[in-house]
Amino acid sequence: MSVPGRSLGASHPVLRVQGLGCTYTSDRQRVVALRDVSFELRQAERLAIVGESGAGKSTLLRCLNLLVRPTHGSVEVDGQVLTSLGHKELTLARHHIGMIFQHFALLHRRTIRENVALPLELAGVPRAKISQRVDSLLERVRLLDKADAYPAQLSGGQRQRVGIARALAHSPRVLLCDEPTSALDAETARHVVALLDELSKELNLTLVFVTHQLELVRALADVVAVLDGGALSELTPITQFLAQPRSAAGRRLLTPEAQMKLPHHLVDEARRHAGVGPSTLLTFAISSTDATSTIFQMLFRYPQLHVDVVGANIESTRGHSTGSLSLLVHGAPAVIQEAIAAFEQQTIPVEVVGHVRSAA
Ligand SMILES: Nc1ncnc2c1ncn2[C@@H]1O[C@H](COP(=O)(O)OP(=O)(O)OP(=O)(O)O)[C@@H](O)[C@H]1O
Ligand SMILES: [Mg+2]
Repeated sequence: MSVPGRSLGASHPVLRVQGLGCTYTSDRQRVVALRDVSFELRQAERLAIVGESGAGKSTLLRCLNLLVRPTHGSVEVDGQVLTSLGHKELTLARHHIGMIFQHFALLHRRTIRENVALPLELAGVPRAKISQRVDSLLERVRLLDKADAYPAQLSGGQRQRVGIARALAHSPRVLLCDEPTSALDAETARHVVALLDELSKELNLTLVFVTHQLELVRALADVVAVLDGGALSELTPITQFLAQPRSAAGRRLLTPEAQMKLPHHLVDEARRHAGVGPSTLLTFAISSTDATSTIFQMLFRYPQLHVDVVGANIESTRGHSTGSLSLLVHGAPAVIQEAIAAFEQQTIPVEVVGHVRSAA
């Protein structure tokens, strides 16, 4: 499937994954970690892979550079089918794919300079060239002053910047990141995200990252892939995903209740009582800047109804307002039903969560 997103002229996909499957086999058990995953990304497109723990996110990422061997399907980078290459060719092809890790994976006995130089040394690049390249990489991640320090002398954020510099050593086309900021505090994570954003744009990198953090998805992704039990349950452009995920797994990750921190007792009670009652909990998916005013204008047509705003989580991402709004609507069930029908006629996405007996 081809996905929309940032496309900078080059029309052929940089990364093409077809029918990817991965089964881990040991003496005692077989775990099907990935099933029939297909997608394409063009130059400079940025894909977030999300899903619950054990969904297969890291497996998918590692299959993209064959760190884990897929058991089915193919991975193609810039038209080269990695899954059919021999060892030597694969080593060269991997230069087009950089990778950064959650816990940085630096060598502790090597200085920062030596860590960044490692992929170049392994590729047999002449010393003088290595030195030049490493300096320019360290400058790019603003760590030239730490070149002779050891990883233990650096903060978490600085270590991840070393990881990024090392991943860029061979000027890759694709950068893979497995939870790049989850070992960092919120402030440091923001700096690392800003750096990834800046570098990926500057270098036109195709970015594939795994994360549990919605902030990272919002900041970087053009497209979101949701994995569920090893299968791709949706592949959705970011603004659409944030407004209304298509799959059940996507909705679970982004439940309005989870995002809005609605009182649990209210949501639980409403979920136990399906349909419309004298106090009905409605959740609206917000996907445009004027969506909330449209919703309230519609509600003002029913002066018999009383409305409490019980939760809202609306963010502006790259010029689009997206999120959710939850209202507890009080009044005669027939009138509430009429209002819901009016929303549906106007194609304003509304979910009737259920009704509650007590007010919020
Ligand atoms: N080396 C391995 N050998 C056997 N099973 C594995 C191996 N690595 C992962 N698995 C299993 O494959 C499935 C997918 O694991 P994976 O690590 O890809 O999930 P994940 O989505 O990255 O999870 P998390 O969010 O917890 O990091 C899980 O059931 C896991 O237990
Ligand atoms: Mg993982």
